[in-house]
Amino acid sequence: MATRTHAVTLIPGDGIGPEVSAAVVRILEAAGRKTGVAFDWHKFAAGAEAYEKFKEYIPQELYRSIEENKVALKGPVTTPVGGGFSSINVALRQKFELFANFRPIKNLPGLKTRYPDLDIIVVRENTEDLYAGLEHEILPGVVQSLKIITEKASTRIAEFAFSYAHKHGRKKVHAIHKANIMKLSDGLFLRCCRGVAATYPDVEYKEHIVDNASMQLVINPYQYDILLTENLYGDILSDLCSAFVGGLGLVPGANLGTECAIFEAVHGSAPDIAGKDIANPTALLQSAVLMLAHVNEATTAELVQGALEQVYRDGKVLTRDVGGQSGTSAFADAVIAALDR
Ligand code: NAI
Repeated sequence: MATRTHAVTLIPGDGIGPEVSAAVVRILEAAGRKTGVAFDWHKFAAGAEAYEKFKEYIPQELYRSIEENKVALKGPVTTPVGGGFSSINVALRQKFELFANFRPIKNLPGLKTRYPDLDIIVVRENTEDLYAGLEHEILPGVVQSLKIITEKASTRIAEFAFSYAHKHGRKKVHAIHKANIMKLSDGLFLRCCRGVAATYPDVEYKEHIVDNASMQLVINPYQYDILLTENLYGDILSDLCSAFVGGLGLVPGANLGTECAIFEAVHGSAPDIAGKDIANPTALLQSAVLMLAHVNEATTAELVQGALEQVYRDGKVLTRDVGGQSGTSAFADAVIAALDR
């Protein structure tokens, strides 16, 4: 069988990152052997691990690799709390202008959750807001964090959400905001959303204040289709939404720009369960499925997603976060076995 090879930058990350990424790489390679797709993984450390080895949190070679390959699969990277180095994740998103963070929240078959048949997408602006990282101490005991909202980035993310909705037959976009309090910043975000909404008459447009949205989501998430958010609200609401479909072990994500894309799960490095072979690799695997579709390997994407869903339907080999007793690698073995079914 003729083989197409994709060069992919691989950042295993830390915490549970190496375990879940090893599982995903194994599954992708097994699927690729069946469909004629090969992967040339260009593997890099980032964060504390990279600093120990190279005295750089993000090695220059890693930047170059993403520039060349245009596509990366990334495990989580720990960010120290309340001090230390700045987020590697935020830095990569800003560097490559990966302005759209796309996070589909969907149930897996066979997995009993509080809300069945849910299908929500969080579309989160990924480059600015309070995540611009502009903070300083004005005088002892007084600090300032700057919230940056621009017309350019707000319009660009709104355009992304509406054009996605239009192309994929999605019915509704809710802009999530706090413009009652942050009249200038969130006000600008809303004006941009309204401007773009007016050019998509086939997609219903609504606005919810973020605190109300949090309550509405828990009471009735089915009223939502696409949530269009700034950076901070999207970060928080996507973790909330992940709980509807079984938790952080499941929900994938894509950081998309015009040139490059980095695919990573919503979850972090989960230090509480790292190194124990118990993390659920599903979220990163579903991120890899998004990546396969992105590089036009729809057949392999469908094969992997089908096998994953089969394992959930069977319900025999599942990780602990979703009520099973199996480990990360046993779960990966089950998905690989299901590729043949
Ligand atoms: P977290 O997402 O790492 O963990 C939250 C909870 O979910 C924990 O109880 C964890 O065990 C569980 N969990 C997460 N992923 C799981 C999986 N695949 N399977 C089973 N259970 C899973 O969030 P936390 O603890 O707030 O953050 C830990 C570190 O990760 C921090 O340094 C944070 O900055 C970083 N982080 C990195 C991200 C990235 O690299 N994109 C995203 C979010 C957080």
